[in-house]
Amino acid sequence: MTDEFVVQPGGPLRGTLRVPGDKSISHRALICNSLAAGEAEVSGLLDSADCRSTMACLQQWGVEFEQSDDRIVVRSPGQDGFRPSERVLDCGNSGTSIRLLSGVAAGLPFRSRFDGDESLRSRPMRRVLDPLAQMGVRVDAAATAPFWVDGSAVTLRGFDGELPVASAQVKSCILFAALRADEPSRIVEPGPSRDHTERMLAAMGAQVDVDGATIRVHPGAPLQPQDVEVPGDISAASYWMIAAAMTPGSELSLPNIGVNPRRTGVIDALQAMGARIELSNPREVSGEPVADVHVSGAQLHGVRLDDQLIVRAVDEIPTLAVAAAQAQGVTEIRDAAELRVKESDRIGATAALLRSMGVEVEEWPDGMRIVGGQLRGASVDSQGDHRIAMSAAVAALASTPESGPTTIRRAEAVDISYPGFWRDLDRLRHVGV
Ligand code: S3P
Repeated sequence: MTDEFVVQPGGPLRGTLRVPGDKSISHRALICNSLAAGEAEVSGLLDSADCRSTMACLQQWGVEFEQSDDRIVVRSPGQDGFRPSERVLDCGNSGTSIRLLSGVAAGLPFRSRFDGDESLRSRPMRRVLDPLAQMGVRVDAAATAPFWVDGSAVTLRGFDGELPVASAQVKSCILFAALRADEPSRIVEPGPSRDHTERMLAAMGAQVDVDGATIRVHPGAPLQPQDVEVPGDISAASYWMIAAAMTPGSELSLPNIGVNPRRTGVIDALQAMGARIELSNPREVSGEPVADVHVSGAQLHGVRLDDQLIVRAVDEIPTLAVAAAQAQGVTEIRDAAELRVKESDRIGATAALLRSMGVEVEEWPDGMRIVGGQLRGASVDSQGDHRIAMSAAVAALASTPESGPTTIRRAEAVDISYPGFWRDLDRLRHVGV
């Protein structure tokens, strides 16, 4: 583990790189298979701090995991066999763990207590606790972690209405609770957030029907364990995709990437900026679209990023802002207020990162305006946020050679979603892979 990582400005990226498994699908493969009684094997699982948080909580409820390399067997008594945990369920830095598992806890006949690290403790939780309360679940009055969820109420009503935010974590929480309700649910999404939970639950036998923005859940169908092959994470791939796309001369192949249409906003945004990206060998793996991605470097230009594209690229906006900093012209990012309540305030953190590297940025409550120019090496802070640390590395690679290296403080934050990130960066820069 390192606290500081120094990144020299780099040239074009060439080669082939396999990125780790998708974080969102890894969480869901662990959780959904824990709800089913029996055994399933998950391959390609992301072994990162966030996924370990989910595993530790599920173990406290009585689920067993047997891990070898990147395969893991999930052995569960099923949700009906879960036992109360004496200890608090510590979700660490992981919003996905705390919000999805709150929905599971809503269907358990005892009280579960949740907590997390300093960052997670500052993130909004009423967005899950309020809809759960509407369903009849007893919940803590707290707005943030630590909080408890008690599913021992006599009846769990269905949910009927629109969710408070376009968030896959909120939606998934309500889906897990809806599976245990006494009546059907109708969940309306305000925006196209990632749908991995709907896909996986339906494949396991749950009655989850999607019609546009409306999801209908009919509880009662038993869940069957399902082996899952986790594809490469498009969010992890996005750092290399963006670094290559913005550097003329790059030729980079990223095989086996999950290209669920609700996750490909980063590709659409880059293409709108003039990037050359090709998808080949499209296929479906464990119910998810997968393809090989090839990126050729080009001079990018400024663009406006807003509306549904933000939801479909929610974790990639800071890195797209780095691309904008080196593009020709101005980029405007709007409708992105959700970024302020991620692992850090990612609008503030991105604006600070770019400014310290010499870029002109105007910050708005829901986005920013970036004037394209030259990035310069600097000393920057990840703010303890994995995606800011990795975005800083992309900015460092693209900075002018004469401006010198960039020192990234709290660089170990990458372990949250991409433990091999610094090693992969080294491999790509020095040898090509
Ligand atoms: C995630 C959903 C996204 C994303 C997060 C992972 C998930 O958040 O930012 O990194 O796995 O459900 P939203 O809840 O805002 O969609």
